[in-house]
Amino acid sequence: MNIGVLASGSGTNLQAIMEACEKGEIAGRVAVVISDREEAFALKRAAKKGIPAHFLNPKGYKDREAYDGAAVALLQEYRVEVVALAGFMRLVSPYFVRMYPNKIMNIHPALLPAFPGTHGVEDALAYGVKVSGCTVHFVDEGLDTGPIILQAAVEVKDDDTAESLHQRIHKEEYRLYPRALDLFARGKIQLEGRRCIIHE
Ligand code: GRF
Repeated sequence: MNIGVLASGSGTNLQAIMEACEKGEIAGRVAVVISDREEAFALKRAAKKGIPAHFLNPKGYKDREAYDGAAVALLQEYRVEVVALAGFMRLVSPYFVRMYPNKIMNIHPALLPAFPGTHGVEDALAYGVKVSGCTVHFVDEGLDTGPIILQAAVEVKDDDTAESLHQRIHKEEYRLYPRALDLFARGKIQLEGRRCIIHE
C-alpha cells in the first residue's frame, strides 16, 4: 500500500511510520511526503530515507481547494492509496476529502471528541482531566470529527506541563499510527456508520 504523508512540523510521527514500514510492521511504504512549510524537518527526515519530499507553498495558490488540487495531483502521481496527516496544520478541503473518502487518517493528541483543534494537549491540561491520550481517526469535512480508528489513554500527572504530557502522548502516537495504517493496509478496518470495527 502506498502511503502519502502530509506534515508541517518536526515529523516524529512520520519517522515512526517510515521505520515501521522498514521493519515490516506496516504492510505498506511511504511513497511521498508533502509539507506546507519549507523548513519542516519532516521533509529532511523523508529525504534522508530517500523518499520523495515536496514543499507545496500555500502562497502559490488562490484558495484551499486550489492548494489541495495540487496536493491531490502529487498524491496521484505517486499512486497514493492512503493519506496520513501527521502534524499537518492545514484543514483539508471538502474536495480533498471527497477525493479520498475514508482514506485520509489524522492523529490527534487528545481523546476525541474531547479537545479538538490545534491545542488539544494544552486544552486538556487546562481543563484538568486526569486522563488524556491520542486518537487516530478518518478525516471527514469537520475539524477532528471523523470516525475513530484507534485511541490510547495517557495518565495526566499533577506536575505535568504541556510539554511533559505531550511527550508521553507522543510515545503512544508512535505505536498507534503505524498500527492503524497496518490495519488499514490489511483491510482489517470495517466502517459501520461512525464505528470502525477492527477485525483482528
Ligand atoms: C502530534 O502530536 C500529533 O498528534 C499532532 O501534531 C503532532 C505532530 O508531531 N497532530 P510530529 O510532527 O509528528 O512530531
